[in-house]
Amino acid sequence: MQIAFAAQRPADAAVLALPIRQGAAPTGLIEGGDALLAAAATAQRFAGEAGSVAEVYVPQGEGAQRVLLLGVGDGADAGFERAGGALTARLLTSGAADAVADLSGVAPLAAARFAAGVAQRAWRFDEYRTKLPETQKPTLARVTIVGDDADWSGREAVTKGLALARLLATLPPNILYPESFVERVLAAVDGLGLEVTVLGERELTDLGAGALLGVSQGSRREARVLALKWLGGAADAPLTALVGKGVTFDTGGISIKPAAGMEDMKWDMGGAAAVAGAMLSLATRKAKANVIGVMGLVENMPDGNAQRPGDVVTSMSGQTIEVINTDAEGRLVLCDCITWVQNTHKPVRIVDLATLTGAMIVSLGNEYGGLFSNDDALADQLLTAGRATGDKLWRFPLADAYDKLIDSPIADMKNVGPRGAGSITAAQFLKRFVDDGVAWAHLDIAGMVWADKDGATWAKGATGYGVRVLDRFVADVCEQ
Ligand code: BES
Ligand code: MN
Ligand code: ZN
Repeated sequence: MQIAFAAQRPADAAVLALPIRQGAAPTGLIEGGDALLAAAATAQRFAGEAGSVAEVYVPQGEGAQRVLLLGVGDGADAGFERAGGALTARLLTSGAADAVADLSGVAPLAAARFAAGVAQRAWRFDEYRTKLPETQKPTLARVTIVGDDADWSGREAVTKGLALARLLATLPPNILYPESFVERVLAAVDGLGLEVTVLGERELTDLGAGALLGVSQGSRREARVLALKWLGGAADAPLTALVGKGVTFDTGGISIKPAAGMEDMKWDMGGAAAVAGAMLSLATRKAKANVIGVMGLVENMPDGNAQRPGDVVTSMSGQTIEVINTDAEGRLVLCDCITWVQNTHKPVRIVDLATLTGAMIVSLGNEYGGLFSNDDALADQLLTAGRATGDKLWRFPLADAYDKLIDSPIADMKNVGPRGAGSITAAQFLKRFVDDGVAWAHLDIAGMVWADKDGATWAKGATGYGVRVLDRFVADVCEQ
């Protein structure tokens, strides 16, 4: 999808989209069209609600112009983003190739959010669909926005980051595994000036990453840790670490998962995908902040070499872990990534993202990601960024009483607690690896990475959740 900005409305647009606030009358928008637009709005019960659309054809020369009224709600930026998404949803496979959206007089940020909605809603993945009927193929190739493009480049960067995150989450697990995840991400960020570190199994063994490697040992695929460092801030500005769970497929290991729905576990790398997408966005828009993104990449498989329930592994921190359930693998991957980034890069704050627990979906469904933090200010900053971007978060408690539940009789801790509070005990596990003085937040995004129905700015499938909230958090909190 190509997005262009223009200063003037072209005279002959085949499709013209016009934003309307909730309750506003669609007047003065097209010459001599007031009565027609008002009638069309009424007939379609269109009231300008964000994301709603009314459609009408008006005479144009010998033919007709297709006019879309796009509701933007109260006119907040988020409403414009929804409206952009609604435009694409309506037109993507409609036969129209070009559309013009007249946003003259709209503030630059709202126009940019609109453009972002247009572009983000157009993302799809048809590479393996060799028999897609012509009528289901996208036709919309270009949207011209009449308006101010001053804020577009920043939103365009985020849109690129989202596309990368969605692609990674969508690719099938025979194609996307730790090594190929690294290749894909490095190709996507090539030339942007990110400092790259790739840890292979030799390095991880030497570093003592026993928890991460234990998860990987039942797989034919080799584990990797990928780190991308963006130094766009002052040399003495603090470093923020983003850490992502990248389990490229989670069978559960020896504690194997039931067959039904197991294919979903190809997107068990959604946390790492969000980190990759956020780093792409930050480097593309040259964010004035110092940020390192760390992705822990493994495949969790059962074979003759796989780790067993009851095994005790030694993490990079030196702390020992009794592996009660090999399906609680995400925390085993993340703990070594957290230790590594603290030891080697000394970040002042860490935000980790992971599709960590099914219990999170029981708690919050698919509307909010769970937030856990040892720092109230960091938690509030993330909640605020979440609200602003639509990547919504809800905070859960941490407490010593939950921490006790993962004490082990044979090792320093076990990797699962009792049945209750499964998302919280998972967070407590991670907290044991966070150094004193480091502000840390954990986002359990198990319910957010994949959608089984269309959203405002995504088609059903990978959402790219996490990219927008991370980008915004960095903009608000880490940039000078
Ligand atoms: N990747 C899963 C969590 C998950 C489940 C994410 C469904 C998205 C959708 C994670 O590795 C896992 O298996 N967690 C276990 C933990 C349990 C064994 C304590 C779970 O939630 O069942
Ligand atoms: Mn698992
Ligand atoms: Zn998992």
